[in-house]
Amino acid sequence: MICRTEEDFEGMRLAGRITGEALKYAESLIKPNISTFELDKLIEKFIISKGAIPSFLHYDGYPASICASVNEMVVHGIPSKDVILKEGDIISIDVGAIINGYNGDAARTFAVGKIDAEKARLIDVTKQCFFEGIKKLSVGCKIGEVSSAIQNHAETNGYSVVRELVGHGIGHDMHEAPEVPNFGLPTQGIRVKDGMCLAIEPMINMGKRYVFIKEDGWGVYTQDGKPSAHYENTVIVTSKGVEITTLCED
Ligand code: MF3
Ligand code: CO
Repeated sequence: MICRTEEDFEGMRLAGRITGEALKYAESLIKPNISTFELDKLIEKFIISKGAIPSFLHYDGYPASICASVNEMVVHGIPSKDVILKEGDIISIDVGAIINGYNGDAARTFAVGKIDAEKARLIDVTKQCFFEGIKKLSVGCKIGEVSSAIQNHAETNGYSVVRELVGHGIGHDMHEAPEVPNFGLPTQGIRVKDGMCLAIEPMINMGKRYVFIKEDGWGVYTQDGKPSAHYENTVIVTSKGVEITTLCED
């Protein structure tokens, strides 16, 4: 959506703040022996306690309020009592909240206890990919400038970019036009408009870029079994710059 009124800006900010806080809360819960089912229930309660609605629940039939994707799982991990975190894992938590008809959508990859240096670097570089992308983001730029900056940063660091899933416009709906790929050429895509709201979400693999979907129709995994990380924020682009709605002081 394009923010046009103060109500639009405030609406996106509030939805973003609750989403960002839900991720901070998620981070505080992550420890060995907790199941992703427990994480889902606690984060769902948190969102509802803020007066918001968990946007993932029932979205296209999705059965939970968060996506919880461990190690070689890229995204869309359905929370389960059988998925129990252990020291050395990395877990991507993706969460969304709607309030007053406005959406926030964000994701982080967290370490479970002590993780090896390679996984830690994957998490760092994935976050850096987002920030390299938004350095290029301004009113009038092409979406492809963001996409190519993300791809360059990932590949320069020896990683690969998932292509089957992309970032997106956001606003009254969680997924709106335009698509925001994490790969491509600077000349591609539409031009960014004043007030445009986007969810930018690099999904970066330690190994090859190829993925497959599990029989449950949701879970996306790396084909080579190597770890993957995800970092996403909802942003508003105006002539004053890029405002990240879902950043909670990290
Ligand atoms: N938040 C995801 C995205 O970044 C979508 C989650 S799919 C859902 O686009 F079904 F879980 F909602
Ligand atoms: Co998203």
